[in-house]
Amino acid sequence: MNKLYVNGKEIYTDKTKLKDILIEHGLHFPCGGKGICGKCRIKSKQLPVTDLDTRFLSSDMVEQGYRLACDKDAAQGLTIDFEKSLFSPVARKLEYCNIIVVMDIQKIAIGISDDEIAEVRVFENDIIKGENATVNLRSFIAKESIELFEKYSMAKADTVAVAADKKMAETLLGKSDDGYGDMLEAWELLLPAEAVYMLPFAEENISAEFLCFLVKHQAPALVIKADKNFAGGLVMEKDIFCLSLNNLSYSAEERAALKASVKYLLSKTDRPPVIYVYGSFANAFEFLSKEHSVAIMDETAYETAAQTIFDNRLKSLLLKCRKRISLLPGAESDQWQEFFILSANDRD
Ligand code: FES
Repeated sequence: MNKLYVNGKEIYTDKTKLKDILIEHGLHFPCGGKGICGKCRIKSKQLPVTDLDTRFLSSDMVEQGYRLACDKDAAQGLTIDFEKSLFSPVARKLEYCNIIVVMDIQKIAIGISDDEIAEVRVFENDIIKGENATVNLRSFIAKESIELFEKYSMAKADTVAVAADKKMAETLLGKSDDGYGDMLEAWELLLPAEAVYMLPFAEENISAEFLCFLVKHQAPALVIKADKNFAGGLVMEKDIFCLSLNNLSYSAEERAALKASVKYLLSKTDRPPVIYVYGSFANAFEFLSKEHSVAIMDETAYETAAQTIFDNRLKSLLLKCRKRISLLPGAESDQWQEFFILSANDRD
C-alpha cells in the first residue's frame, strides 16, 4: 500500500493511477481525464514531465512544478498540492437538498442530493483515531455540508441521512446505538439540517451501506466488503448468512482466513451466486472469478450506497433484511477451520 501526501494530508492507497486516487477523494476531472481540457492542474516536482504537460502548461509553470494529473502514476511518498476548485464540477441547480453521509472506520463520503445525487466527496477517515472524535466528526460533517451548500446555493438541508457502521454511528451520536434507525433532531448533533436520519445497521461490521447492498441484490448473491473490516453476506431467498473479520492488513495468513470465510459462506448454497465485491482490498478476491461471476464495485460503492438512501421504502427493507441475518461463527467453528486448512494449503 502506498502512502501519499495530498494537500498536506497523508493518504494510503492500493491504486497506482493518480487520477483514480483523486477521484476516490471526491475530485472531478473536467474532461473525464481524456487529456483534452488541461484543467487537472496539480503541483509536484516529483512527477515526470509528460507530453500532456508541455501541451497545456508553459515552460515556466513546468519549471515551478505544475503538472496535469490525469496521465500520472502515484509512487510511494509522492507529495502533491492543488486547488480544490480546479476539480469542481459545475454545480447544477437543486430543487431542495439532503445531505448523505456514508461512513465506516476507513472512509467518510459526504454527498448532496435532491431527487438525485448531485455530488459525493470521499475522504479518508482520520477522525476516528483522534481525541474528541464525536465533536470532530460532527464539525467535519457540518463543515463539508456547508461547503456543499455554498457551492449549490442552498441554505440548509432538509435531512442529513447517515449510513454508518456501529462504531461510527456511536461516535456521531456520542452514545450507544442499537442500529434500528432513528430520526433525530439535527440541532442535537449540531448539524445544519432539520433532521438526522440514522439508517439501520446490524452487527459491528454489518454497516448500513452493507445492508443497502444486501437489499439491492437478488438471491442468490454474495456481497463482500473488502476493507480493513471485512464483511461477507450471502443473500438467499429466506436467510442472509453473514460473517465478518476485524482489523485486517491482508497478510498471507489473513488472506487464507478470508478465503476460508468466503468458502464457508458459499458452502451454504447449491446455486452459484453472483458475487459483488467493494472496498479498498477488492483485488484480494480476484481468485473467485475463476469459478463465479464477480462484479467489482470498488470505485462507485459509496455513490451507489448514497443513491439508495432516499428510497422511501428503504428503512423497512433494511429492518426486514436485518431480521433475516444469521451470523456465522468464524475461527471458532470446526467447519471454518476445515476451510482454513484447505485455503492455507491452496497455492492459487
Ligand atoms: S482532466 Fe482534462 S486534461 Fe486532465
